[in-house]
Amino acid sequence: MTAACLRLDKISSSYRFGKENLFVLNEVSLEVGAGEFVSLLGPSGSGKSTLLKIAAGLLQPDSGKVLLNGRAITGPARVGYMPQQDLLFPWKTVLQNAALPLLAAGHNPREASAKVLELLPIFGLDGFASYYPHQLSGGMKQRAALLRTVLMESTLMLLDEPFAALDALTRENLQGWLQQILNRFQKAVLFVTHSIDEAIYLSDRIYMISQRPGKIILEITIGLPRPRSRSVVTSPLFASYRQTLMQALSVAPETAKTPRPF
Ligand SMILES: Nc1ncnc2c1ncn2[C@@H]1O[C@H](COP(=O)(O)OP(=O)(O)O)[C@@H](O)[C@H]1O
Ligand SMILES: [Mg+2]
Repeated sequence: MTAACLRLDKISSSYRFGKENLFVLNEVSLEVGAGEFVSLLGPSGSGKSTLLKIAAGLLQPDSGKVLLNGRAITGPARVGYMPQQDLLFPWKTVLQNAALPLLAAGHNPREASAKVLELLPIFGLDGFASYYPHQLSGGMKQRAALLRTVLMESTLMLLDEPFAALDALTRENLQGWLQQILNRFQKAVLFVTHSIDEAIYLSDRIYMISQRPGKIILEITIGLPRPRSRSVVTSPLFASYRQTLMQALSVAPETAKTPRPF
């Protein structure tokens, strides 16, 4: 059996909060296979962003292991990580922002620019190379950040709620577009979202995480055929997945004596 692209093994994590310890993740295990699209779905404050930081090697868990292609990581990993906020450097242009991972990987500036310019049309940013982030729409900013993430030369992307701040129509457009992009770049994705419909529409598999301290309470495989068009959201199979996930969310145990997320 080939090793999973990403494997998280019994990850537990907490934050120090004054004298208190905030227990955030409770023995979370999950894996993402090569080329697979996996969503981590759960309520706000359940530890999703924390888990993604741990998967990227940016935060040490209290216990548990992170394996990338079968190897344990101990520090920042070479993965395409797109954080929930602070995506683009405001003082750099689209071209300069997107070229960063290529420069960091040792490509010369000319090569890096050529590569970014070649990909701009696919990311809907043709002609916007010299624009600054504040001159772009929300959707364009997210596409530029995704371009930068794709250019981190890795077979895995960790995406933290990339569409959450967008209006509904832009969000739907970008969901469809993301599927085309992934078809082309063949990357595995761990995608964080708190939207049930978004998770079903995009994923091969979904893990649902409970309220803090986050624990995996459900794992389902999404058998909707690909490529998926928007109309799939009206299918009976889609509705049955939605039902299953909504039910799991409503019965998710609230651990007694654990304060609510703030
Ligand atoms: N750096 C931090 N220091 C202290 N507490 C934090 C920190 N980051 C997150 N938390 C707390 O940990 C819990 C989980 O946060 P987070 O992983 O961001 O959840 P989610 O992404 O699911 O909304 C929340 O209660 C949050 O307030
Ligand atoms: Mg988050």
